[in-house]
Amino acid sequence: MEKRRRNRPEYEMEIIDTTYPGIGVGYVEGQEMHAKHMFPGQVILGRHLKNKQGIGQMMVLDKVKAAPWEVEPKCVHYLKCGGCMSQEVPYDLQIRWKEKEVLEMMEAGGLIPVRYHGIHSSPEQYHYRNKMEYTFGDETKGAPLSLGLHYLSRKNSIITVDQCQLVSEDFNRLLRATLDHFSATGIPYYWPMSHQGTLRNLIIREGKRTGELMAILVTATDPELDPLAWANELLKTDLSGKLTSIWHMTNDSLQDAVVADRLDLLYGEPYIHEIVCGLNFRISPQSFFQTNTEAAERMYRQVLEFAGDLAVKDVFDLYCGTGTIGNILAPYAKHVTGVEIIEEAVQMAQENAKINGNDNATFLAGDVKDVIATLTKAPDLIVVDPPRGGIHPKALQYLLEFKAEQIIYVSCNPKTMVQDVMKMTDYAIHDLVLMDNYPNTNHIEAIVLMSRK
Ligand SMILES: C[S@@+](CC[C@H](N)C(=O)[O-])C[C@H]1O[C@@H](n2cnc3c(N)ncnc32)[C@H](O)[C@@H]1O
Repeated sequence: MEKRRRNRPEYEMEIIDTTYPGIGVGYVEGQEMHAKHMFPGQVILGRHLKNKQGIGQMMVLDKVKAAPWEVEPKCVHYLKCGGCMSQEVPYDLQIRWKEKEVLEMMEAGGLIPVRYHGIHSSPEQYHYRNKMEYTFGDETKGAPLSLGLHYLSRKNSIITVDQCQLVSEDFNRLLRATLDHFSATGIPYYWPMSHQGTLRNLIIREGKRTGELMAILVTATDPELDPLAWANELLKTDLSGKLTSIWHMTNDSLQDAVVADRLDLLYGEPYIHEIVCGLNFRISPQSFFQTNTEAAERMYRQVLEFAGDLAVKDVFDLYCGTGTIGNILAPYAKHVTGVEIIEEAVQMAQENAKINGNDNATFLAGDVKDVIATLTKAPDLIVVDPPRGGIHPKALQYLLEFKAEQIIYVSCNPKTMVQDVMKMTDYAIHDLVLMDNYPNTNHIEAIVLMSRK
């Protein structure tokens, strides 16, 4: 396979355009070619691997000429770890290209909003992330234990990212303390190919506005492991925030994903808090929370504004996570019903309703496609905020049968959003706003307000 790849032709190509998500576009002998994570003005040496729908897919071998706009990347791990891919692009260009990519996709789908409110930059371009999921491994076979993210070009190797610029310094300190502790114990990392070893992941979450930190050690079952010794080590770490919740998660699943077979609280409270739009939210180990708190607040305020006068409206908050959108709308609405697949997040959503005095909000656990089939009272407004894959076709069908007056679609993947909205032919697109909640990456958030024609 590798030999076949090496035999493919190589070309120098100037990137002249971008397409979603952050893919460089150029031409070789009249054929359109795509190269991941490259931007207009850069010249690459690429290998033409294959065609996808007539478009050549180039593997970048080298950047032979930098673009005149390039700035010095801030992070020492840049382009080794696959975490963020556009640090050399000045921020105003990052958002200009993201905007262009989304608007082009919408136009290609025939989706033209009545009002476009532009793209909003993130309040912070660095240190904005409130959650990281690190993996234990090594850089090369037999090398010392590492803890961090997958190498960009060697997916089975892990690079220790203890100077990451997307998170606060407390994340880097907790990562280092964990790595030092387990390097000394000699406990092996878990190897997903052979299903042997112990140490799988370290997850850190932070309430940016409360300073509360949660650390979760994820391991396979191992009687030799002493998670309390690790927790005690973390508690000695010098931090700007407060480590208020430490968990041990046992994961014996064969999947290469974080799955909790067992959760043991090792220290402190079972959750941390975050304050958004003046409300207090509890975040448990496994529940979803927007990763950029400052940007999320702005996004929720936009949803509230798009929702208009809610006083007589019944609202559905589909894919509700910890109930952030539902609980922010509830004080103004007649009633809110939230639906979320992760039970623990639903419990948090209910608790969040209670601590914020929202007795008109109900949160239900289950797959949206199953739960909405059981809901009998049609809502006036449906807010959907699905995962990157978009809305399941069955869920979309039920959703449309409610004939709600308004739909607000919040999306972290405009590509699937465009596909879903194209099927909502009974609705007109009134407003669109784009928000860059993920600087230095190719991700972007879109919010669309639709009303029934
Ligand atoms: C993009 S998040 C949005 C969460 C929430 N609106 C917020 O802003 O915090 C998507 C949520 O959908 C949930 N989810 C994924 N698939 C689902 C499904 N099939 N049915 C219900 N919820 C689902 C995820 O667990 C996650 O909490």
